[in-house]
Parts: sequence; structure tokens; C-alpha cells
Amino acid sequence: MAFSELFLQELAERNDIVDVVSGYVQLTKRSGSNLFGLCPFHSEKTPSFSVAPDKQIYHCFGCGKGGSVISFIMEIENLSFPDAVAFLARRAGMAIPEQEDDPNAKKRERMLSLNRDAARFFYEQMKAPSGAPAREYLQRRQLSGRTATNFGLGFAPDTWTSLTDAMKAKGYSEHELFDAGLVRHGKKGGVYDTFRNRLMFPVIDVRGNVIGFSGRILGDGEPKYMNSPETIVFSKSHNLFGLNLAKKSKMGFIILVEGNVDVASLHQAGFDCAVASLGTSLTPEQARLLSRYTNEIVIAYDSDGAGQKAAQRAIGLLEKLDMRVRVLRMEGAKDPDEYIKNFGADAFRNLLEGSENHIEYRLQSVQRKYDLQVDEQKVSYVKEAAGVIAQLPGSVEREVYAMRVAEQAGIPNTAVLDEIKRQRKNKLRTAQRELTREQLRPVRQQEKRSGVRYDNPHSAAAEEGIIRLLYLDSALFHSVQPPKPEQFSSPELRHIFTVLLEHAEQKRPVSLAALGETLSNQELQILTRIIQRDDASDRREQALADYINILNTDSLVSGETDLRAYAEKLKERKGYGGTK
Ligand code: UTP
Ligand code: MN
Repeated sequence: MAFSELFLQELAERNDIVDVVSGYVQLTKRSGSNLFGLCPFHSEKTPSFSVAPDKQIYHCFGCGKGGSVISFIMEIENLSFPDAVAFLARRAGMAIPEQEDDPNAKKRERMLSLNRDAARFFYEQMKAPSGAPAREYLQRRQLSGRTATNFGLGFAPDTWTSLTDAMKAKGYSEHELFDAGLVRHGKKGGVYDTFRNRLMFPVIDVRGNVIGFSGRILGDGEPKYMNSPETIVFSKSHNLFGLNLAKKSKMGFIILVEGNVDVASLHQAGFDCAVASLGTSLTPEQARLLSRYTNEIVIAYDSDGAGQKAAQRAIGLLEKLDMRVRVLRMEGAKDPDEYIKNFGADAFRNLLEGSENHIEYRLQSVQRKYDLQVDEQKVSYVKEAAGVIAQLPGSVEREVYAMRVAEQAGIPNTAVLDEIKRQRKNKLRTAQRELTREQLRPVRQQEKRSGVRYDNPHSAAAEEGIIRLLYLDSALFHSVQPPKPEQFSSPELRHIFTVLLEHAEQKRPVSLAALGETLSNQELQILTRIIQRDDASDRREQALADYINILNTDSLVSGETDLRAYAEKLKERKGYGGTK
């Protein structure tokens, strides 16, 4: 374990969850001791995000996210557990205990230092006489020396072991080079450089670490790019190329493009807020990362079909995070790099200023699907367009777009507005119904979301009740025979139970903050949800007895196929009164 439980508890005590969360969410008091606000993790109009000061936990009834102050920081700042701990320690002015016993932290640090040295090596190779092909390639792409320096671009020479030799001379082992994805194993043993004769783009995270590389072939050929594999410091889906620079931009929005070359070329033209998603289509993690730095995104994907499809997906992801999304349509060029080459930076700036916000873009996409000369198609068009407009929060906005649709379809404004009203009402009703259903059947509803699937929903309440009491009042368990882990219906609950029971048996105090290291994020969320509810403290003993009874009876059911034997056993258990 990297941090002692004592340290984590003190950390949590010195970072009151209400203070910390208030830095991100406006919390207001309602009835009871809990505070409520709009959830920062999903988009909503009415607050379902709650913070319980007494338990020092947060929980969103809408999206199910929850946990301790540490999980909150992990989630909202997009940090790993140790990074979130460091973040909160800094906030509270606490020193972080030495972590020399953590082999992972050491390994990470070592790999980051290797990557940095490798980036330096590539960079020097670009300047060396043998770097001429790379310099010529840059020239051909009209990328300046300044841009190359700005991005730390480099050249992997056309040899088999230059990098290997240079890094070995610096004291790195072949093993370390392999783990970082910088070398591959040859057939006869030995290793050779992964990146050869390529223009090297170091991928640098927001903290300035070189976490991986993207190597482009000089000219045509396959594969066009080679990328570092996933390593302990590099995850493609969690990072964006260029964000280390774009996060400092004063432009107020971020331009999302497909290619590394597009990023470099845009920065060079003065658009220093461009990033690329490392060759994957935008992931939810990347969207969340972006939302930490801006609330406005301009999508400038390639103008081919694939690019437009990817744009649609990205819009969905970004909108979920309440970001303003605009889409740039480039006529006469396949991507931003080519656009700037063909028409210049000013033309691109005009494009940016005039770029459609996403609603217009989506309305146009809808319109293109239908032939408005055909009456039935006209009706379908109005219905679908109204659906898009119905999602707009502002009534003035809705009216403006309704007018436009009406005009295009050649029908009165009121007809479109009525349709929008109807669809909004339907949506509201569905949302209301969902909410009620959820409140009525908390366990069933939340199963899906929390990822726990109960073989037997009947025992779910009992399993959760036992875990809740074990967390809140472990002393209760000193006088009863606790259930066995196998009696819990999911691996997550089993694990949570085992860990809590261990604490109880050793009379160690528990805190969610300290459990953050033993339990997975998902388990932590499940536990947070479970301890939200409470059994009245004067009824806890009885409640525990009931829960254990239910569990024992249920395991009997699944363990016994002979019904008669089961009935006999039931008779023996006189105390059992069934569930309410
Ligand atoms: P592009 O082919 O559009 O590359 O792929 P580009 O960077 O714009 O390069 P040019 O302008 O055509 O020379 C977009 C991104 O997809 C990833 C890279 O991150 C690239 O920047 N990609 C592409 C790969 O990972 N592997 C490939 O083989 C191709
Ligand atoms: Mn491209």
C-alpha cells in the first residue's frame, strides 16, 4: 500500500468534502443535513448531486457517481489515486509521505524519464547532419523550425539500434526500453528500435510529461503513423495531442482536429488551441479532459464521410458535459492543414467566426435526409427537426430555429412551435416517470447503473443492508455470526464485504478515503450508494438480524434443490418473519 490509512484519514479530515466540492459545484442546503447541487459529472437541470457532511461523501442520484473527497478529485480533475492524494495534500499544506515502497510509482517515474531522454535524442537527431531527410520533410509540409521546437518534434534515424544504444549508454535496460514500447524483440533475441526513419511527435500530457510517441513516415507508405503502445504512463484514450500547449491558449475555446499535422499547422498559423485525439475517435475520457480547460469546442475534423461521422459522435459526448459545440465545415480542403495552405490563416479565422453552432449543424444534417418537395417527407422533417430544437433550453432560441424550419418547410411558425411543445411535454413526462420509478425501486433501478447484478433481487436489500451496517456500526458484528462472503451475489459486494469485515475484526476504523486504495472505483461507488441510506440507529440490531436471516434463507433456496428439505429447514428458523 502506497499511503498509510492514517495518512489518508488525516488527509480527508483536513480536506472537508463540503469545502472541496464547493470549489466546483454551487451547493445549497435543503431539508436534512445534506447539501445539493447540479452534478458536475453529467448534465442536468435540477440538482441530484448530494454531499453528506456527516459521512464526508458525495453521491449523485442521477448518474450514480459517488465516493470520498479523494474520489471526487480523481473524477473531476481527471487524476489517478496518487495524483489526487498529492493534489489534496498540497491543498491542505500536508507533506506527502515518502513512497519509496511503491514499485509502481518508481516504475512510472523511470519510464517518464526514459521517454524524456528519448524525446531529447530524437530532437537532437533532427538537428544532426543525418537528420536532413526529416528537415526536408518538414519543409515540404511547410512546418517551421520554430514549430518543430514548440512541439519538440524529432527524427528517429533510419538505423536499427541508434536509440537503443543511446539509451543504454544512459543506463536504461532493454527491459525498460521494451516496457516503454521503444524497442521490439528481434527473432534472434536482442532488440531493435520501434521507430525508424520517422518524424517523431512526442505526446506530452498536461503536466508536461512525455508519455508516448507518434511517429509519421516521411512521405507516403504504410503504416503512416506508428504509436507507442499502451503503457503504465500512456493511455491513448485518456490524452489529447497538443493539450499541453492548448491549455495555455487565450482563445477561449479548443479546436478539435484529427491529425497531429493539423495541430502543428494550426498552432503555426496562430491557432494555439488545437488538439487531436491521437487517432482514436473522441472518447468520453478525452471529452471530460477537455471540459477541464474549456466549455466551448470547435470540431474541425476531416471533411470526408468518416470525419463527419466522428464529428457527430463527438458532439454527443461533449454535449453531455454541457459544452458548447460548433462544427467547422471546410469547403475545398480535406482538413485544416490543407485549408490553411490553400486559403491562408485569415480564411480559417473567418471560418471559425462563422462556424455553425451544433444546432444549426444538426438541423442541416436532418434536412439533408429529406426531400422537402414530398409532403410525407416534409412532415417527417418537421418532426425530427422539432425534436432537435426541443432540446434547446432557451425559449427564444427555440423560437428562432422553429421559424427557420417553418420557412424551409413552407408551413406556419405555429405549427412547428406546437410540435416542439408537444415533444418537450412528452420528454418531460418520460423524465418524470423515470424519476418516480427510480425512487420507488432504488435497488432494481440502480443495479444497471452501478454495474452490480444480483442473481436474486430479493436478497439485494439484505446484502446492502449488511454492508451498510458493517460500515457505519461495525461493533454490531461482534455479537453475531457474520455471513460468509460467498453469500453475496456479486464479486463487487463480496469484495467490499470482505474488506470491511477485515477492518471490523481487527477493530480498525474505516473511512471511504482510506478504502480508495483497496477498493476499485466501481466498488467505491457502490459502497457510497449503499451507505447513503440509513437504518434508524435504534433499530440497527434488529435490522442486522433480519438481513442476515434473509441472506441465510436465500442461500438455502439456491443451495437446496429438495423442496421438502428446504421447508423443514424453514420451519426450524422460527425467528424469520420475511421481508416487508
Ligand atoms: P491522418 O492520416 O489524417 O494524419 O490521421 P495527419 O496527421 O493529418 O497527417 P497528414 O496531414 O495526412 O500527413 C489522423 C491521425 O490519426 C492517427 C494519427 O494520430 C494521425 O495524426 N493515425 C493515422 C494513426 O495512429 N495511424 C495511422 O496509420 C494513421
Ligand atoms: Mn489529416
